[in-house]
Amino acid sequence: MQRKVTKAIFPVAGMGTRFLPATKSVPKEIMTLVDRPLIQYAIDEAREAGIKEFIFVTSRGKSALEDYFDHAPQLEQTLREKGKTKLLEELERSNMESGSIAYIRQHKALGLGHAVACASRLMADEPFAVILPDDVIAGEVGCLKQMVDAYADTGGCMVAAMEVPHDKASSYGVLDVKEDMGSLVSVKGMVEKPAPGTAPSNLAVIGRYILTPQILKNLASQQSGAGGEIQLTDAIATEVAKDAGVYGYRFQGQRYDCGSKAGFLQATVAFGLARDDLQDELSNYLEELIASRRAAQ
Ligand code: G1P
Repeated sequence: MQRKVTKAIFPVAGMGTRFLPATKSVPKEIMTLVDRPLIQYAIDEAREAGIKEFIFVTSRGKSALEDYFDHAPQLEQTLREKGKTKLLEELERSNMESGSIAYIRQHKALGLGHAVACASRLMADEPFAVILPDDVIAGEVGCLKQMVDAYADTGGCMVAAMEVPHDKASSYGVLDVKEDMGSLVSVKGMVEKPAPGTAPSNLAVIGRYILTPQILKNLASQQSGAGGEIQLTDAIATEVAKDAGVYGYRFQGQRYDCGSKAGFLQATVAFGLARDDLQDELSNYLEELIASRRAAQ
């Protein structure tokens, strides 16, 4: 029986330069997919998986993100008075339990591994999750919940995994598979952003992790790796080398790379089409748009 995973780290210190000028004043994680900020999707997924403590690794300019998690009693009161029950419910659903969130600053942008290591003091001797909110994953069961369920049998470290086109592998952490058991694979190697043509496979790491406390120890003494940054992948690879049990989990669901403009737009369309209140209008519009573009060609 594994210890329960109840803490999650959300590395949200990135500057979001790909979304400038918007990210001059709006943290990337507050940008909305339909009507909910990116971070809300990550929180909902974490809650579904049983996470009770949420640790944000932030940086300068992220105060809107911290404010987002404040309760809004005046707004709630106004909605109540106006009988706007649905909106009120939606708002209350985003409320976090007092004391369940901690913020910690990453003072220097030294990489994902460094961001996770910044949260070390808040962690106990127990497994924890890491969620990268840029990777939005739509599925019947949340990706992290699927992983937590699988982890109950495996223990060790687990990363979400997905096949990507071979020519895209160098944008990811990539797994070298020891044994392929279907949704679960055991790992014999891991490499962060391999040079083109050198990736051990096209099975990429996606931004969901369940990690042992040993990872934090590894990070504490770790040298910088790909791109001159302290890489989380390298800290996990150290466990692979020790044969400590590292698994990839091929989740069920559609992943959107909301760290890229194209991915963000695709997610916006897909989430809009999945909404009862929007799908008719949106799909009619898209059909008309495509038809008129074809006619113009
Ligand atoms: C990070 C990780 C990488 C992983 C990716 C998934 O990279 O370092 O291993 O494959 O997230 O989105 P980043 O996209 O931050 O460069």
